[in-house]
Amino acid sequence: MKYGRYLCASILEMGRIIHITRRERFSAAHKLWIADWSEDQNFAVFGKCANPNWHGHNYDLFVTVKGPVDPKTGFVVDLRFLSDLLKDKVIQFLDHKNINLDTPFMKDKMSSTENIAVAIWDQIESEIKSKGADIHCVKVQETENNYVEFYG
Ligand code: NI
Repeated sequence: MKYGRYLCASILEMGRIIHITRRERFSAAHKLWIADWSEDQNFAVFGKCANPNWHGHNYDLFVTVKGPVDPKTGFVVDLRFLSDLLKDKVIQFLDHKNINLDTPFMKDKMSSTENIAVAIWDQIESEIKSKGADIHCVKVQETENNYVEFYG
């Protein structure tokens, strides 16, 4: 009877997709600049973010993962796994770094919040899938008032 109950619970839970979110933080420098534009053009488009000697932000990163709940653990994915993955693949390359110069996965890309969100998705997607889950959203908050969300 115990076995029967377990099967029944699994079937009920199969259609239920849960979203879980892990927040990480990083502080980093960057500059938005297009080399073949004049200084005036760069400042007109990028404003303070074009400051030649860099500037920094305290970023908040929110990664939301979705999937069915494992009937044994009750987890979508282990949040320790998600936290370790983000530290290994993302945060160590961004925190206290210059995104334009130091971050391998941002090489030859504009260090905009949009591009950072997409690059973070690409850094972690295969490992999330290997756990039977999917990324729902990568949200990167650059300032109190500005954030980007990428849904794949
Ligand atoms: Ni900026």
